[in-house]
Amino acid sequence: MRIAFFEVNELEEEYLKKKLDGHQLKFSNEKLTLENVQQINDFDSISVFIYSKIDEQITREIPNLKLITTRSTGFDQIDLETCKKQGITVCNVPSYGENTVAEHTFALILSLSRNMCKACIRRFEQDFSIEGLEGFDLKGKTIGVIGTGQIGLHVIRIAKGFGMNVVAYDVHQNKLLSEVLGFEYISLENLLAESDVITLHVPYMKATHHLMNKDTFKLVKKGALLINTARGSIVDTEALIDALDKKILAGAGLDVFEGEEVIKEEKQLLYDPKNLEVLTNLVKDHILLSKDNVVFTPHIAFYSKEALERILETTVENIAAFVLGKPQNVV
Ligand code: NAI
Repeated sequence: MRIAFFEVNELEEEYLKKKLDGHQLKFSNEKLTLENVQQINDFDSISVFIYSKIDEQITREIPNLKLITTRSTGFDQIDLETCKKQGITVCNVPSYGENTVAEHTFALILSLSRNMCKACIRRFEQDFSIEGLEGFDLKGKTIGVIGTGQIGLHVIRIAKGFGMNVVAYDVHQNKLLSEVLGFEYISLENLLAESDVITLHVPYMKATHHLMNKDTFKLVKKGALLINTARGSIVDTEALIDALDKKILAGAGLDVFEGEEVIKEEKQLLYDPKNLEVLTNLVKDHILLSKDNVVFTPHIAFYSKEALERILETTVENIAAFVLGKPQNVV
């Protein structure tokens, strides 16, 4: 097969070259766009990460495209309907890092609950005072887990280790695991009202777009923390800023936020000033990230050595299975 990999670094390239010997391969550290798609328009497979938006315009430019592998769990960057119509198989990496993302979730929670970021910044200012750095214990607090799939369940296991009470909300409930792990499924409304820490682990889709919005923030227990390691657009940024300003939330820990892909490439906006919506979102993001009770990481919840190895292994297996006519991890 002719396979084009986008958003890969040199180490990943080395690994893939070894494992996919016999295929014609092309590598780019850029995301796939309408600008660079011409370089691979005779390829029959592409492999991307989350910043390459795959829509009809892109797939039209690659007429022989048969297989897309995304090196991520989420696949909301790919227009599945278009792929289905065009007979393109799409495979993801369903589980590579439930512990990885869950551990990062707790890194964000602890950064807020124990003022880690504030304390680190003070050190650089030679300020060793403890005023304003009083934290709070997680033991005995209630964590509300929205989405009890692979990652959410691992978050629950860790939360139990901290001695937290766990409540959860999911459209599909796993009653057996709720008994085994000792947590309770409740309605979204009750979860928001009862939780000291709310953490999001649902996929991004129509039903979860702005799940946290002006109305749902009104239901949140005053002084709660919101953690988002799922996808940015699950939270309405404007409503989040408002909830922080009104002190409904005491803090937010964000690995993802709306428009994160734009903030990474802000300079490009200088050449596209007509995009008012993008600019407006960018301003909101800057307001959000300038708050000292917002802890932010640049979409790295998945980014551990072990998880990266598992992602590449599964991607190679996905390609091999497709070549054998037995595609796996099809979404
Ligand atoms: P999963 O598919 O195992 O679990 C998702 C859960 O959400 C399921 O239990 C499902 O029933 C539930 N759900 C779906 N729609 C819902 C709704 N409308 N309301 C309530 N619950 C709903 O997914 P997994 O592996 O736990 O990952 C969750 C998300 O985390 C991914 O979709 C991805 O977007 C994000 N993610 C982020 C990473 C990062 O680096 N920040 C890395 C990996 C995943």
